[in-house]
Amino acid sequence: MQTVQNERKPEIDPARASGIPSIVLSDVFKFFGDVAAVNGISLDVRQGEFLTLLGPSGCGKTTTLRMIGGFELPSAGEILIEGQVMGDRPPYRRPVNTVFQNYALFPHMTVAQNVSYGLEMSGVPKMERKQRVADALAMVRLPQVEGRKPAALSGGQQQRVALARALVNRPSVLLLDEPLGALDLKLRKAMQLELKQLNREVGATFVYVTHDQEEALTMSDRIAVMSEGRILQLGTPGEIYERPRTRFVADFIGQTNFLEVDVVAADGTAIAVDLPGSGSLHTRIPDAGQPQGRMTLAVRPEKISLRKDVPESEMPGMNELSGRLEEVVYVGTHTQYLLRLPGGQIITVQRQNRAVGESEYFVGETPTVVFSPLSAALLAD
Ligand SMILES: Nc1ncnc2c1ncn2[C@@H]1O[C@H](COP(=O)(O)OP(=O)(O)OP(=O)(O)O)[C@@H](O)[C@H]1O
Ligand SMILES: [Mg+2]
Repeated sequence: MQTVQNERKPEIDPARASGIPSIVLSDVFKFFGDVAAVNGISLDVRQGEFLTLLGPSGCGKTTTLRMIGGFELPSAGEILIEGQVMGDRPPYRRPVNTVFQNYALFPHMTVAQNVSYGLEMSGVPKMERKQRVADALAMVRLPQVEGRKPAALSGGQQQRVALARALVNRPSVLLLDEPLGALDLKLRKAMQLELKQLNREVGATFVYVTHDQEEALTMSDRIAVMSEGRILQLGTPGEIYERPRTRFVADFIGQTNFLEVDVVAADGTAIAVDLPGSGSLHTRIPDAGQPQGRMTLAVRPEKISLRKDVPESEMPGMNELSGRLEEVVYVGTHTQYLLRLPGGQIITVQRQNRAVGESEYFVGETPTVVFSPLSAALLAD
């Protein structure tokens, strides 16, 4: 049997040339009984993009991926791949390959046989099979182990064999569901970079699922942050980190200070808010929602600095708070300072540990806490 995959080599893909999205999800829902695992997702994934679905356990990442792969059918909505409506097409008739977290390799077969197996099933001739297996193993940088059995490989090598097995079919779309979850931290970091490189090299669209925010920031062209079956925000890693639209997104990605504030004045470009106990602060206009009433001001710890005895004139336009230093935590590359503000709130400040001789701060001191209005995001929820 000749499969769709064999007809769809990326280099001759007409969809790529025409510039249409690689994958389109249009108002997709999936119900399991009463549970809305996916609750209305619309999304365009670009050709060759590395897109990550990021969110906490149970938010619908795997279900979304399984629907793209054809392992589940949507309860409502439509999925297009390379411009074609997928409808109820089974997985083997989609130009897609999937790498699952528990990448079961066949233990009794060699690495080469494992990678070759799918091609054999689709009737690819022996000579071509040999060449494509060699190419796929070279792509994942494992040419030297093709005669070994899986048990004689490390976890990272096994993971790469699983990738080679998916890549050998030359899919237009590669779906990866937490493929690095089983690996230790160092290996995971190395594989993250390799996967990103592989994405550039083979030109296939990668849809990657993880609940690890750092992994998502490292690898992705864009991240879709999910919660309860919905996409809350879609953007580049920089946009998601620097301009979160909701408290959930700001909280899920990285570390953030949240201060409850009251909006006192807003014009088209700047906003004044009152932080109870500390007084007036300034912030940029919110990316979402109207500035009014009680809101949350979000500021990343590394965007805040501490100063001793700085004349006000040296920092025009900056927000300044007084705080009492309650705790100093040394974390190697940086130090975290926890300060209590006059209104009782705690604010965390992070400073890079750089040159010796920089001024230090000690518990009990009351340095000035300084941050730019541009570093503060006003969030409605
Ligand atoms: N086959 C199924 N039958 C019933 N409920 C299901 C089924 N598959 C998933 N669910 C439910 O749908 C919701 C989303 O599940 P899903 O596996 O997509 O989450 P996830 O984001 O991948 O989570 P995790 O990070 O834990 O893997 C969960 O509430 C889950 O319990
Ligand atoms: Mg999952």
